[in-house]
Amino acid sequence: MERTYLMVKPDGVQRNLAGEIISRFEKKGFKIVGLKMLRISREMAEKHYGEHAGKPFFESLVGFITSGPVVAFVIEGKDAVSAARDMMGATNPLKAAPGTIRGAYGIDIGRNIIHGSDSLESAAREISLFFKEEELVEYSREVDGWIY
Ligand code: TYD
Ligand code: MG
Repeated sequence: MERTYLMVKPDGVQRNLAGEIISRFEKKGFKIVGLKMLRISREMAEKHYGEHAGKPFFESLVGFITSGPVVAFVIEGKDAVSAARDMMGATNPLKAAPGTIRGAYGIDIGRNIIHGSDSLESAAREISLFFKEEELVEYSREVDGWIY
């Protein structure tokens, strides 16, 4: 089972889309194993987006991601990393397929609603950057027998 790091960005929180976005992953069948709201510091933002340091959009990206609270969550399930990326859609919301999160709710590449880890390695790094070990939970789902 894979785990991946997801985050409703400040625009998604401002637009009251956090519940809708989390809900998509729940309904898909992924298990939420960590969830919190936080305001990202500049230092954390620079670490999180370290691979983009020096690129023309880096400053606006860091400014944006620190501009308001985010909702960070970790999901677990089969192929969670790539499945979540597919559910998010392309980086540019105007190019993202309409049924995806970015395709459904966004227009501006700088305000594309959701972040998701792009590989297993990024997922491990990002999960440990935003969550302490004790903030992640392990539990089984005992739905057999009472959901049909
Ligand atoms: P990137 O990691 O390429 O995209 P993704 O979020 O799909 O993994 O870029 C990180 C974020 O930087 C992206 O979500 C939005 C922002 N960004 C821009 O503002 N302009 C750009 O040209 C690109 C490529 C990204
Ligand atoms: Mg990325």
